[in-house]
Amino acid sequence: MTNVYIETYGCQMNAYDTELVQSILVDANMHIIPTVDAADVALLNTCSVRENANNKVLNRIHALKRANKTLIVGILGCMATNFKTQLLDNNRLQIDLIAGPDSYKQLPALIADAVDATHSDKPFDVTLSEFETYDTIVPNRTEGANAWLAIMRGCNNFCTFCVVPYTRGRERSRSADSIITEINDLVAKGYKQVTLLGQNVNSYRYGNDTFTDLMRRITQETAIDRIRFTSPHPKDFPDDLLDVIAANPAICKQIHVPLQAGNDRILKKMNRTYTQSEFLTLIHKMRDAIPGVALSTDIIVGFPTETYDEFLDTVRVCETVKFDHAYIFKYSERPNTRAALKFPDDVPLDEKTQRITELVKLQKKHSLHQNKRWVNTVQSILVERWDGETVIGRNDANVLVYVDAAHNRAAIGSFTNVFVTDASPHGLRARALSQ
Ligand code: 5AD
Ligand code: SF4
Repeated sequence: MTNVYIETYGCQMNAYDTELVQSILVDANMHIIPTVDAADVALLNTCSVRENANNKVLNRIHALKRANKTLIVGILGCMATNFKTQLLDNNRLQIDLIAGPDSYKQLPALIADAVDATHSDKPFDVTLSEFETYDTIVPNRTEGANAWLAIMRGCNNFCTFCVVPYTRGRERSRSADSIITEINDLVAKGYKQVTLLGQNVNSYRYGNDTFTDLMRRITQETAIDRIRFTSPHPKDFPDDLLDVIAANPAICKQIHVPLQAGNDRILKKMNRTYTQSEFLTLIHKMRDAIPGVALSTDIIVGFPTETYDEFLDTVRVCETVKFDHAYIFKYSERPNTRAALKFPDDVPLDEKTQRITELVKLQKKHSLHQNKRWVNTVQSILVERWDGETVIGRNDANVLVYVDAAHNRAAIGSFTNVFVTDASPHGLRARALSQ
């Protein structure tokens, strides 16, 4: 029996894909093991969204091979497509097999070829598909509270900084019926929360069903307690979607809405298809339609040619919106993207560092301000894990809540009501209600 060990890098979609891959390999009679020591095969499910994610994986390959020369090392995920030629040509890397994001059904055969000593070519399949949604495969879910569920894959937006359209190919959605069936199975298994995933989740479309229709159907046809979704694009938030979110208690009142930049010239160069004022209008609409909604965002600082004054437009949008949470990144040039081909990466690294430091500091202030909204309220939290004597869960707004387990012994994957006593930029402290 082949022992396979898998490491996952990058976003939630990769976490979900690892669960799909596990399911495919188990069906092929392979054995998934939690550490590399006894592994015949180590698969790295990789990310190439920024250079540092990339470098981490390259170092890891060297380390794995140094520790065990006979270990078969395979590359899955986003680096597979982008680096196929380099990975295979560069013998120093010693990669034994490659499977891109749409080729996971081929993995048992690819692994068998790699294990077979008489097979001299390095097996790989990085073909991108217009159709593959893996809708017939039930992932090997291991987390207790939340279930990831990809409803669409790929991206057609071509933001100029982003490698995803090249690594993951064109947008395609799976049928609403198959999604509803899977969520009903999750409910039967005791899952309380589902997070719908897609590189562009709200541009979901299957037949006549839009993302709004899908969300409505999930609330009507399943009994799942909490529904989240990520990652959306600001261009796909019609009013009826906001109304469905507002009207249904099961849909969390928390939306991720990636800003990327606050300056119109930079937004245009990024091909984001909205202006600062259109973005702010959307935020106002969201807050009008869904009172108290928690908002998070993604921001890139130091996109090619961005001046300090233009960066200050991003700061101003942040000051206006006061996001509950923000993921902030330094621009990282990715091979073959439109930005890499057209715009030199000309903002110096120390300037990017200064901008990110400034914005992170401001965001901390905003996160604290927003997190204080929950102090002195009762919050229903879904318990994710225990750390010693601390119960850790999240409220509807997706804020981490820490509860002393002395008086609340709620199990992982269950809901518990707690009273919030304190807020920090990173989360909330709460006590058991009966205390
Ligand atoms: N450089 C820096 N950040 C990037 N992101 C995507 N591509 C790049 C890049 N080339 C960020 C965006 C995106 C998030 C997932 O990663 O903010 O929303
Ligand atoms: Fe990384 Fe994007 Fe691929 Fe996710 S989809 S693993 S963020 S490059």
